[in-house]
Amino acid sequence: MAPEAVRISEIPVHGPLFEGAMAVYGEAFARPPYSDLDRGAEIRLRLRDTHARRTGFRLLAATEHPERVVGMAYGYHGEPGQWWHDTVLKRVTPEVAADWFGDSYELVELAVHPDFQCRGIGTALVEDLLRGRPERTCVLSTRTDSEAHRLYSRLGFEHIIEMTFTAGGWPFYVMGKRMTADR
Ligand SMILES: CC(C)(COP(=O)(O)OP(=O)(O)OC[C@H]1O[C@@H](n2cnc3c(N)ncnc32)[C@H](O)[C@@H]1OP(=O)(O)O)[C@@H](O)C(=O)NCCC(=O)NCCS
Repeated sequence: MAPEAVRISEIPVHGPLFEGAMAVYGEAFARPPYSDLDRGAEIRLRLRDTHARRTGFRLLAATEHPERVVGMAYGYHGEPGQWWHDTVLKRVTPEVAADWFGDSYELVELAVHPDFQCRGIGTALVEDLLRGRPERTCVLSTRTDSEAHRLYSRLGFEHIIEMTFTAGGWPFYVMGKRMTADR
């Protein structure tokens, strides 16, 4: 559950709430360990032109007072032909590929404004995004030097593989959570 004053809702990929979500994303990744000042601008195009068109896409915003965006998360159904999906599948065995990525929801981005972190908002965004999803698993990647993997472990995500996505790039943990017990 999100903290009392925070509301989580699905938002469109345009308009003031979308702009608020993009600003929060930029702020969150501008801080260490990322210190990435360009990331806020990069995500906008990728999200609108590519990710928003994918099956199961949902963008959530956490808002306070009632229109200030303080957190965001989005995901979609993972499929062959998607860069992240294909890159990870090249690195795992066929058994792991079928088990974890055969019917998966991808948690693509998660960010909470630095002034609002450690209040349960990130947890609530992940839980809301995954609630009712029909996929067997949820998968994601997070930099090994990020604190976020502790949050994901607490939410039931397991380490699948550690890998880099680009030559000489940062190492990431690819993590997965089983979403239904009976499949
Ligand atoms: C990761 C992030 C979304 C967590 O949001 P949040 O609202 O602080 O999350 P919660 O309050 O629900 O949970 C806090 C947990 O996050 C972890 N955490 C993540 N970043 C942290 C930070 N900068 N400082 C302290 N703890 C942090 C803690 O381990 C904590 O786990 P715990 O409750 O088991 O101790 C937020 O810290 C953030 O936006 N970080 C920068 C962007 C990022 O790393 N995104 C994820 C990339 S995969």
